[in-house]
Amino acid sequence: MGQLHALDLAGYSTLNACSVNQQLLPLTAQTNAQGCLEIGGRNVTELVREFGSPLYILDEETLRVACRQYQKAFQRYYPGDFQVLYASKAWSCLAVCALVQQEGCGIDVVSGGELYTALQANVSPAKLYFHGNNKSLQELRFAIESGCTIVADNWLELHSIVELAQGQLRPRIMLRLTPGIECHTHEYIRTGHLDSKFGFDPSQLNEIFTFACHHPSIEWVGIHAHIGSQIFELQPHQDLSVVMTQWLAQASKLGLPFNELNIGGGLGIRYVESDNPPSIETWVKVISESICNACQSQQVPLPKLLCEPGRSLIGSACVTAYTLGSQKVIPQLRTYLAVDGGMSDNPRPITYQSTYRAVVANRMSAPASELVTIAGKHCESGDILLKDILLPQTQPGDILTVLGTGAYNYSMASNYNRLPRPAAVLVRSGEANVILERETYQDLIRQDRLPSRLVPQLLPVGP
Ligand code: LLP
Repeated sequence: MGQLHALDLAGYSTLNACSVNQQLLPLTAQTNAQGCLEIGGRNVTELVREFGSPLYILDEETLRVACRQYQKAFQRYYPGDFQVLYASKAWSCLAVCALVQQEGCGIDVVSGGELYTALQANVSPAKLYFHGNNKSLQELRFAIESGCTIVADNWLELHSIVELAQGQLRPRIMLRLTPGIECHTHEYIRTGHLDSKFGFDPSQLNEIFTFACHHPSIEWVGIHAHIGSQIFELQPHQDLSVVMTQWLAQASKLGLPFNELNIGGGLGIRYVESDNPPSIETWVKVISESICNACQSQQVPLPKLLCEPGRSLIGSACVTAYTLGSQKVIPQLRTYLAVDGGMSDNPRPITYQSTYRAVVANRMSAPASELVTIAGKHCESGDILLKDILLPQTQPGDILTVLGTGAYNYSMASNYNRLPRPAAVLVRSGEANVILERETYQDLIRQDRLPSRLVPQLLPVGP
């Protein structure tokens, strides 16, 4: 097994050498003279000492470079207007919203909560797009009043919008359609096939477009589709571009001047060495070219092109540092090493059987010699973060660092077993700023209410 571990990582972390979504480690990751992992100029082991464990460590440089790789690719390959929207479901918090907005991105939100977060981060409503297959009336009202664009998903919503809009501002509406395109990703994160809960069925196209023509009080801006997430193939997005351009042509024949075309997100990232996603540049190039060609053959003007990457913007920018604790050796079978978090801070392995890569931050130069399985601390046998991985010899107290945890980790975190959610720090050029405070035990009972008849039954509790 020898030096495999260290060599592998070196090959996947060269600054700016390739697309951010193809990196295992954040761009600024390096091993210092003491064999410790540094990110954003900060020693990961020391960060854990200072900010506690587990800890999400988000590398500002990687996130910014990913935003720029998207922007530059569109400037290069798409001759029309474009807008990159960050899909904030991947990780929604004030700092991340503010940062991607500084890089020129708009934001895709899917709930009143995500909308509120983006607005509080001062993101311009003109760059906010509100998704969701069952928005409440309250959420629709909030969206209309905020001035963001609503991506309408179904008839109930369309009728509610028309009603809410009466006498008010003219809402900007985009229509979400199900394109009937299959892609090879986990079934839970596929959305483009016809049997999906999202969007209008394409068989209703004429009906929806006719409805739009009859409601000029709404500003109809365009169409949207999203086919799934963690996709490595390019063909589905190429097909999507053609299908959506045909829809644009159909709308224009009915006299609907749609100007925007939103192709969703979905580009995958490298979680382990064997993952091989296309680069951000290739993804943008292929889509841009196929839209340009399709527009030409359908004789429709180039639309403003929008896309909504989540994972490929933020996934590779973050690592989660845990402290190793107990160990269980089952002779001839398996060695379990337990960490101080698990499915509550990263529910992806138990939900989607997702695989990850990990390193020991304080032993980066040691050869990988042990085959181990990393267990979380939850009361659930399935709470396994990484199965059968090679690590150097470790001791309790070592800092196990899981790579590629920026997308759908914090945003899907829970308090299962009443574990407080970890803190998150943003690192850059030797500086570390807390962007999410670690939850406390007091936070855990903040929403609890005790009916007065139960109060006398309370027993004194320990510290
Ligand atoms: N736009 C729409 C309408 C979406 O539904 C999604 C993701 C995106 C954009 C962003 O997709 P991305 O670029 O991140 O692939 N929790 C799952 C992923 C669910 C994705 C949901 N929609 C996971 O952890 O893998």
